[in-house]
Amino acid sequence: MAATLPSQRPTWKALAARAREVPTHHLRTLFAADPSRGSSLVAEGAGLYLDYSKNLLDAEVVDLLIELAAECGVFERRDALFAGAPVNSTEHRAALHSALRLPEGTSLVVDGVDVAAEVHRVLSRMRAFAEDVREGRHTGATGKRLTNVVNIGIGGSDLGPVMAYEALRHYSDRDLTLRFVSNVDGTDLAEALRGLSPDETLFIVSSKTFSTAETLTNATSARRWLTDALGEAAVAAHFVAVSTAAERVAAFGIDPARTFGFWDWVGGRYSMESAIGLSTMIAIGPRRFAELLAGSHAMDRHFATAAPRENLPVLLGLIGVWNRTFLGHPAVAVLPYDQYLHRLPAYLQQLTMESNGKHVTEEGLRVDYPTGAIYWGEPGTNGQHSFYQLLHQGTTVVPADLIVVAQSLNPLAGHHDLLVANALAQAAALAFGRPAAEVRAAGADEPLVAHRQMDGDRPTNVIMLDRLTPYSLGSLVALYEHAVFVQGALWGIDSFDQWGVELGKQMAAAIVPELTDAPTDPERDSSTRALIERYRARRQP
Ligand code: F6P
Repeated sequence: MAATLPSQRPTWKALAARAREVPTHHLRTLFAADPSRGSSLVAEGAGLYLDYSKNLLDAEVVDLLIELAAECGVFERRDALFAGAPVNSTEHRAALHSALRLPEGTSLVVDGVDVAAEVHRVLSRMRAFAEDVREGRHTGATGKRLTNVVNIGIGGSDLGPVMAYEALRHYSDRDLTLRFVSNVDGTDLAEALRGLSPDETLFIVSSKTFSTAETLTNATSARRWLTDALGEAAVAAHFVAVSTAAERVAAFGIDPARTFGFWDWVGGRYSMESAIGLSTMIAIGPRRFAELLAGSHAMDRHFATAAPRENLPVLLGLIGVWNRTFLGHPAVAVLPYDQYLHRLPAYLQQLTMESNGKHVTEEGLRVDYPTGAIYWGEPGTNGQHSFYQLLHQGTTVVPADLIVVAQSLNPLAGHHDLLVANALAQAAALAFGRPAAEVRAAGADEPLVAHRQMDGDRPTNVIMLDRLTPYSLGSLVALYEHAVFVQGALWGIDSFDQWGVELGKQMAAAIVPELTDAPTDPERDSSTRALIERYRARRQP
């Protein structure tokens, strides 16, 4: 049977018709017509609570979205994902990040290999090494304790570790200094190394492929910084690697005994709970790291087993499809009301946009509907004093996810209630706005009524955690991983490849020699040629 787009389905068309009715409703009228929305359009699982009532939909739309998901095979694909089938079809691979958090003693055999046993073998090596560093048994070349840990990686080999370290800082060993280097801009490494003493510094070179130019360039310079101070022999004690490419690691000069492996079935942006999380484990300790995995595993089980109407990743994913594809909203703002989650928006940018920023289906058909939204954000309340003006009164509607934590880890008198009040107020203000009549009734001067009036009708999700712990962070990460999967599966795209990043990398490699003495490629466009010439004229010798 010839492949068709999901947009050809009658259920899709029924949803498109429902979307056309949306401008005739308002969240005010929807809440007035059904005062139970705040308790019915909610779901709970794996320690997280999702209130999706302030979206422009009703239970019927949710049912239609679930019907469409079923027709598009989303639930079969979910089962295939967990079973280790090659759901990454363009790279012929499984996407088994869920296997990274299978409890010890379980077994998952894929192509004759028990991947759960493999995972626990690596975890046990990570545990031993992390404890050695934390307890000062693994020392540097001069016998000093390694109290500085510098992770060198980029993309999924950086964003997950940074986000997790920042999110779990409360649980981290405060005697350790953790730094993260990703940008090939020398400033990143130079600033990360500032004030560190080479004899107390451990480098973790994290790269799935061990061929990423930025990471290898940074690792080479870090190695020079170390060997200039301590000599070549120091590399063995001060450098470890995390990679699937053991031979390339060995060629770089890192001891295979100090290399922590993972597998091609772990995508870069899904890898923070593989050995890529070594810096996290050193920071918070193996027991807390196990809690992180347990939280993700709880969300995996919830996703695999809960009924669609109660299933958080299914709901979050389908609401994303409704807002992006049927209502046409191009972006999603991620607004964590917890300072520890300040790198979550950056982490989710890669997870969502590298996964679902695709324009063809798995069969290679060009889609005729919008796919992956633009994810961005900042912690509240900082965003409130910066870009929320546009969220409230701009001409682009930006649906938002507000992440609220009930119990503060730093409960200073008066702070947390104010923080949570702001989150709840923002979600309500975005939803219900302020009609002109209300502004007038409050005594506003007539010329200002139009300026002070707010439309509302801005969709939001509120995700509430009881407390930010390794467990709840694991659950939150898995929630978004699976919501991304649900969206990709419904859109018919491969959420696990990233062909779009290749071209720029190849072109950069070709431009590098032209920035020094190689002749400029005459085939190059006139803009790039002129920019190369301008740079060459100004380049530092
Ligand atoms: O540039 C894209 C990418 O391949 C990401 O998907 C990945 O997370 C990142 O580069 C880093 O790759 P690696 O871990 O192989 O260095």
